[in-house]
Amino acid sequence: MAVLTGAGVSAESGVPTFRGKDGLWKHYRPEDLATPDAFSRDPRLVWQWYNWRRGLIARANPNRGHYALADLERTAPEFTLITQNVDDLHEQAGSKNVIKLHGDIWQVRCLSCGRDWIDTRPSIAELPPRCGCGGLLRPGVVWFGEELQPGIWDRAEYAARRAQVFLVIGTSAVVYPAAGLVRMAKCSGAKVVEINLAETVITSQIDAFLAGPCGELLPKLIA
Ligand code: OAD
Repeated sequence: MAVLTGAGVSAESGVPTFRGKDGLWKHYRPEDLATPDAFSRDPRLVWQWYNWRRGLIARANPNRGHYALADLERTAPEFTLITQNVDDLHEQAGSKNVIKLHGDIWQVRCLSCGRDWIDTRPSIAELPPRCGCGGLLRPGVVWFGEELQPGIWDRAEYAARRAQVFLVIGTSAVVYPAAGLVRMAKCSGAKVVEINLAETVITSQIDAFLAGPCGELLPKLIA
């Protein structure tokens, strides 16, 4: 069994999604905040935005959907949770085999020496932060126009191709290559089940669609 989650799975924890009525990309332009160019133009501005998101995520707790997925992992013989989310709410809920396609908001990486580590301060005071070597630190997330880490993508693709059941939860499924995992799973013979508040671009191509908040539907489905 494999699962692909998106921002919708953390929405009931108070973490905003990207698209839709109150989505982050309705209020901010991704090209100003989430691209390598934006970071080289104004690293301080990009870091201010990540500090704000760090604060939001630090205050958030896993919801019933996150916990249901951790329960499911304990019962399924083979289980991979692939997430596009950079928060750590799946891990906090107890999920173990988690692939973080778009990185981790708590990770920082030095642009000079390449070292990376976890810094869980909800807000980093000195902006932009610097490494001991003097290099500029960047958030350890994947921005638009950047490739996913090859090892991470290989693991996600393997899980999608191997799955007998593939759940797609709380994602608009418009960002590639992540969204391509759905088709990969389907073409490799998985039954694909989507849970979302509303139909998405993939709904017509899959086996079953469950409409509603995943914090309510996942515990019922798994029970
Ligand atoms: P989106 O904001 O594009 O989509 C969130 C989806 O969750 C929408 O389809 C909503 O209908 C659904 N949703 C919201 N609340 C829900 C709930 N309580 N239960 C079930 N569904 C719910 O977020 P993603 O698909 O995760 O990438 O976005 C993909 C990527 O685009 C993100 O990882 C990020 C963004 O730009 C990068 O930053 C690289």
